[in-house]
Amino acid sequence: MPVVVIIGGQWGDEGKGKIVDLLAEKACYTVRFSGGDNAGHTVVNQFGEFKLHLTPSGIFHQTCTAVIGNGAAVNPAVLLRELSELKRSGVDTSHLLISRRAHVIMPYHILFDRLEEKGRGEQAIGTTQKGIGPAFADKVARLGIRVGDLLDHDVFYRRLKQVIEHKNTILTKVYGAEPLSVDEVYRTYIEYGKELEPFVQDTEVIIADAIRAGKMVLLEGAQGSLLDPDFGTYPYVTSSSPTIGGAILGSGIAPAAITACLGVFKAYATRVGSGPMPTELKDETGDFIRKRAQEYGATTGRPRRCGWFDAVAGRFTTCINGFTGIALTRLDVLDVLPAIKVCVAYELQGQRLKHFPSNSETLSRCQPVYEEFQGWLAPTSGIRRLADLPLKAKRYVEGLEELLGCRMDIISVGASREQTIMVR
Ligand code: IMP
Repeated sequence: MPVVVIIGGQWGDEGKGKIVDLLAEKACYTVRFSGGDNAGHTVVNQFGEFKLHLTPSGIFHQTCTAVIGNGAAVNPAVLLRELSELKRSGVDTSHLLISRRAHVIMPYHILFDRLEEKGRGEQAIGTTQKGIGPAFADKVARLGIRVGDLLDHDVFYRRLKQVIEHKNTILTKVYGAEPLSVDEVYRTYIEYGKELEPFVQDTEVIIADAIRAGKMVLLEGAQGSLLDPDFGTYPYVTSSSPTIGGAILGSGIAPAAITACLGVFKAYATRVGSGPMPTELKDETGDFIRKRAQEYGATTGRPRRCGWFDAVAGRFTTCINGFTGIALTRLDVLDVLPAIKVCVAYELQGQRLKHFPSNSETLSRCQPVYEEFQGWLAPTSGIRRLADLPLKAKRYVEGLEELLGCRMDIISVGASREQTIMVR
C-alpha cells in the first residue's frame, strides 16, 4: 500500500488541508511532520468548516489515525483547544497520536518570537508569532522540552529550571523584560501533560509497523517549500523543513517506503509575511484575487500577497521534492479573468535566469518574464471531469504541467470534497 507525501509547492496556504482530507478517506494514518500552530489548514466537510492549526486533517475519518509526528512542534494549549472545538462539532478525536519526541512550544518561545521580530525592525520576517523559530532553535541548541518530558515530572522540572534560568538571563539582561517563574510554567505544563498523556506514543514505531503491514500512510506537510530553511527565500523562511527531507526526518519513515510525493500548488501565487515574491501584483488584479479568493491568513488573519503563478519557483520545488504528481487548487478563482499570466523566467540586469536564485536579495531584483494564457470566462466549480473543463482552462492546466515538468493528478475547483476533478 502507498505512502504518500503531500507537500506545498509554493509559500504555503496552497490548500493542502483539503487534499489530505480527500485522500485520508483511504488512509490508515495521516502524519503531520513539521511546523506547529503557525499552520492553518482549512477543511470543509460534513462536520462544518475548520481551520486546523495542529491536528492532522485526517482526524475527520474514523478509520484514519491522526499523528502529530516527531518533527512537529506542539503548543499544548492550542492543541487542547482545537480538540475540544472538534469534539463540540461532533468529531471523534480519540484516534489522535502525538510523538513522544515532538518538541513543545513554551511561553518563552512566544515571548522571544515577539521580541526578536521587534528587534529586526524593518527586516522583520513577519512571523506568525507562535514561537516557532525560537522552539526549533532550542531543539537544535539542545535546550528543547519534548512532549515525553511533560510526563516525567522530575525530569521535566530539572530541565525546565535549567532552561528558564538561561532564558531569564536573556529576557532581563538583553531585553529588559520580566523573568518567568519556573514553578508557574511547571504547574501549567504538568497539567497539559496529564491531558495529553492518553495520546502520547512512540509514533515512529507504530507508523513503521503500519507500513510493514501494508497500510496506507499519508504524510501531511505544513507551510510550503519556498519557506524551507535550506531551499526557501532565506532568511524569510520558517524554521522547520516543509519539504520531502522534512517529511522523512519528521515522521521517522524510511525514504524507500515512500511511493508518491504530491506537490500542491494554487493556480496563482500567494505569500504571507515579508520576503521576495517576483510575481506579486500590487495592483487592482492582486486586490481582486485577494477579495474573490478570500486570501487572508488562516492563523493570523493577515491579507495574503497575491500574484501570478511562478513556474520558475514551481520548477525548483518540483525538482527538490521530486514531485510525482501535482494537485492544482483554486482553479475556479481564475474563472472571471480575461487573461492569466504565468512567470516562465526571470530577468536580472538584462540576463535571462531560468533557475530560482539561492539568495533573497538577488530574487528581489528579478523581474518576471510572463507567458500569457487566455482566460476561459466560464464557471468551473461545478465541473467534476477533466474532459468537461473549458478548452482554455485545459490549456492553462496543460501549460502548467509542461512548465513544471510534472503531470496533474488532482484539480480542485472549490472548498468542499466534491468540488474536485480526479485526473488520475
Ligand atoms: P514562522 O513560521 O511563524 O516563524 O513565520 C516565518 C514565515 O513563514 C513568515 O513569513 C510566515 O508568514 C510564514 N508562514 C508560517 N506558517 C505559514 C503558513 O502556514 N502559511 C503561510 N505562511 C506561513
